[in-house]
Order: sequence, then C-alpha cells, then structure tokens
Amino acid sequence: MSLPAELLEPNATGLARAAGVLREGRLVAFPTETVYGLGADARNDHAVASIFQAKGRPRFNPLIVHLSDAGAARDIAVFDDMADRLADSFWPGALTLVLPLRPDSALSPLVTAGLPTVALRVPDHPVARGLLSAFGGPVAAPSANPSGSVSPTRAAHVVDGLGEKIAAVVDGGACPVGVESTIVGLTPEPVLLRPGGLPVEAIEACLGGPLAVPAKTANVTAPGQLSSHYAPGADVVPNVTSPPSGALWLGFGPACSDAALNLSPSGDLVEAAANLFGYLRELDARAAPGQPIAVAPIPDHGLGRAINDRLRRAAAPRR
Ligand code: TXA
Ligand code: MG
Repeated sequence: MSLPAELLEPNATGLARAAGVLREGRLVAFPTETVYGLGADARNDHAVASIFQAKGRPRFNPLIVHLSDAGAARDIAVFDDMADRLADSFWPGALTLVLPLRPDSALSPLVTAGLPTVALRVPDHPVARGLLSAFGGPVAAPSANPSGSVSPTRAAHVVDGLGEKIAAVVDGGACPVGVESTIVGLTPEPVLLRPGGLPVEAIEACLGGPLAVPAKTANVTAPGQLSSHYAPGADVVPNVTSPPSGALWLGFGPACSDAALNLSPSGDLVEAAANLFGYLRELDARAAPGQPIAVAPIPDHGLGRAINDRLRRAAAPRR
C-alpha cells in the first residue's frame, strides 16, 4: 500500500523537508515557472529510475536536469559561445539547453538515456530556486504527470495524477507561464527541439539568426516530440472557428463569447498559455463520454507557437 504524497508548504521548513526527501533518494514534485516538475537526485540511479516508474515513462526519453545557477550547469555540460550567450540572456528562465555531456558530470546515465548530450535548465521560480539551493545538487525533473497526459500547473493536478506514487509535493500555487520550457539543442548548430515558455523570436534575436527545426523523423534527439502527448481523456480538435455542435468549445479572443471557457478573452497569448493545461483539464472533466474539446485558432507566434505545438500533440492519434 502506498501512502498519499506529503503536501509541503513553500516556506523554509517545507523546502528543508523536500530537500531531505530528495537526499533519501525519493521523489518530490515542485513548482517551476513553467509547470510542476517531478524531482529526483540526478546522481542517484535508483531515484532517477523511480521517476520513469512513477510516470510510466519510456526509458529512452531523457530528463531535464535543473540547477541553481549557470556555474553548476558548466560542471555538467560543455558550453560554447552560443550556449554562454543564451544562458547569460535567459537563465534563470523557461529555456532548456541540450549540450554535450561532460564525462565527469557524475549524473546517473538514466538521466540522459545514454545520449552523449544533456538537457539543462536554471528555473526562475522562487520555490524551485529555494529547493535547488536547499538540496545543493542537480535535480532531474520531467513534468509531474503520468507520461503522455496533460502537464500539471497546480499542486492538485500533481496529486490527481501521481498522488500515491511520489513522496511529497511542494504546493507553490499556479505556475505563471503554464507551458513547458523551450528546448534548444546546441550540438553544435542551434535547433529548436520544442517551442515553449520562452518565445522563439527572443532566442533568434539573441543568436542573430533563425533556429533550425529538426525534421519530423529525427526521433533520436527529441523522443518526446513525436508521439501523442499532453493529451486529456477527451479528443482534442484544434482550429475550430465557430461554436461546434456536440463539442465543448475552448475559445481564444473576443470573438468567442459562446465558448465554454476562453483561454484569453482579450486575445493575450501569455494569458492563454498560463490557462491552457488547467482549462483542458476542466473541459475534460465536464465532457460527456465521447464528447470532444474543440479549440479556437491560436496565432502562431510568441507563446502561440508553444500552445499550437501542445494542441497538435494533444490531437495526435493515441498510442
Ligand atoms: O518546463 C519544463 O521543461 C518542465 C519543467 C519541470 O522544467 N520539464 C519538462 O520535462 O517539460 P519533460 O521531461 O516533460 O520534457 C523534457 C523533454 C523531453 O521531450 C525529452 O525528450 C527532451 O526534453 N530531452 C531531454 N534530454 C534531451 C537530450 N539530451 N536531447 C534531446 N532532447 C532531450
Ligand atoms: Mg512532460
């Protein structure tokens, strides 16, 4: 029999307890600015293996390592000029860099699924930062949801999906960004592996040129990119311009006054991203058996790129 996850307050006592649980090799979910992460000591094989087990995640899908600062990241991966520039400009923040792994990194090989590269991020959320500094080491953390389902943006979502499979959850309220980090690979050419909470336009402005997008078949570098993902129970139908009969309509912008819920009545993409996963969960709970969720068109720039990516994958054929 598993016990339900211990709910921890986002204060010094709660963070000290959470760091202690990580040191024992157990799993702690915690808020970041993007989504809640499911953390484990990235140097502990057994702890990292239990992430894959709790999520039902395929072992070939590598994890993001979270660090308290760029200095700690440089102990794990090799930074070139472009990596330095991106880290200086956007860390802490919603950017993950995939870089060559240092042979002396001390990470569990399960973290990188045996790849010669590693995904690193310095999050910008006071609770995540507090936990990383209380723990004092690298924390491997995928989104804290069962593999393939909608990412959690509140502690209650984590408890719904994984409550009996993890030791603790630090409750830091709603995640302000609401979609996962943008992933850029630099091995060494810059490629966009996943659009996310940092707009692609900002990264391109920093690098002074466009980011390449890997071909759809390049499944070795980004295993999470291809299959159905971020999917609620109900079918999702993107790009629906008028109130659909028989579906629940998730609106965007002022023209969608008949929508069941509206991601942003004013048409603000930042607000829409913050609401996306919570609203998909809410409509999923409201949907009658077999009733789909139809979603209004979302402009494909800024955070709209990340929203459209998640909607496309929510709509993809299920495994
Ligand atoms: O915002 C986020 O990134 C959240 C929070 C918790 O930080 N984390 C997150 O992790 O979204 P996850 O595991 O759900 O997604 C990580 C993605 C996966 O698609 C994985 O395949 C990719 O990162 N990834 C990790 N290491 C990689 C590597 N070495 N090369 C290519 N892709 C990698
Ligand atoms: Mg995920």
